Amino acid sequence: MKVISIASLKGGVGKTTLSIYLGASIQKVFPSKKVLLVDADPNNNLTDFFLREETVEALEERNLFTVLIGESRLDESIRVIDNLYILPATPDLAGAHLELSNDPSSMIRFRKNLENFCETNKIDFVIFDTPPSLTYELFLALHLSTSVICPIGFSRWTLQGFKLIDRACRKLEAPDPICVPFNVSQKDAERIYDSGLQNVTKSFVPKSAQFVKSATLGKIFSESLDIWDDLEKLVKEVL
Ligand SMILES: Nc1ncnc2c1ncn2[C@@H]1O[C@H](COP(=O)(O)OP(=O)(O)OP(=O)(O)O)[C@@H](O)[C@H]1O
Ligand SMILES: [Mg+2]
Repeated sequence: MKVISIASLKGGVGKTTLSIYLGASIQKVFPSKKVLLVDADPNNNLTDFFLREETVEALEERNLFTVLIGESRLDESIRVIDNLYILPATPDLAGAHLELSNDPSSMIRFRKNLENFCETNKIDFVIFDTPPSLTYELFLALHLSTSVICPIGFSRWTLQGFKLIDRACRKLEAPDPICVPFNVSQKDAERIYDSGLQNVTKSFVPKSAQFVKSATLGKIFSESLDIWDDLEKLVKEVL
């Protein structure tokens, strides 16, 4: 089981978009592999993408936070949509820091739970979408990760977002983060390559209105678009 965190301490760099499309692309490249997407952001945009039909009450009953505090079981809190396994979040997850940061065994319990679920259901990849803040839920994801991927654009603040994640990874003994130029023009991608930043993928994901349309509709975009080629290259490079 591989656990991948999509992380940056800069907001709006494409963490949720990359989480969704990394999951979808893994399925395209390796059709027999199973993917679990975990929404570890209290802003729950990934949950809204996949589960917009579900009521707030149903989401509040079974989600990442209720699993962490022992109010629901992991297996009953995971939904299956379009062959992707989804563990949703609600804004309640913001309370995890207060409720659980003094209980380090909560992370160990969750790890065991996750390993059991993935073994029983033959899940190959777990992808965590994380918040742009140094909170319990980000530490949980980094603590479990076998790789950390940081989307970056070409701006000093997105590079800053990367540096802070890099520092958090070192502190938690998580893997070194890999940078993916994301939502960039070809020129910006080249500027990133020329910047001397280490651990940047050769593949990059261009700016495309299709991602915005997809987020608005809550639907993975069509199979025939060229962007899939960029996404597939990225999957083959990072996995
Ligand atoms: N490659 C892209 N091309 C064009 N627009 C994009 C691309 N990637 C993301 N976007 C758009 O940028 C916005 C921010 O993306 P996203 O929500 O994935 O960022 P985020 O890092 O998860 O933000 P937050 O820190 O708030 O969780 C969204 O409106 C999304 O549709
Ligand atoms: Mg997000």
